[in-house]
Amino acid sequence: MHEKIIKNSKKVNLEIAKDYYWCACGLSKDGIFCDGSHKKTNFQPMKFAVKENKNYFLCSCKKTNSKPFCNGSHSKS
Ligand code: FES
Repeated sequence: MHEKIIKNSKKVNLEIAKDYYWCACGLSKDGIFCDGSHKKTNFQPMKFAVKENKNYFLCSCKKTNSKPFCNGSHSKS
């Protein structure tokens, strides 16, 4: 993984019927949504959608095993 990875989760409100692209490289400006910064790496964003309109905690540490959602891995070292 890359040095710029933010070691936390971010709470975001997501809506059904929309496609989202989770940043897998850790280089995006906000750490959670792909902004194209991965182009100089071998990483690709992960496309995902949600089944409910509500707040979700998205992983920005990139250690979760339930991508793109936070599973608390950022608090374990
Ligand atoms: S910017 Fe990180 S996967 Fe696209």
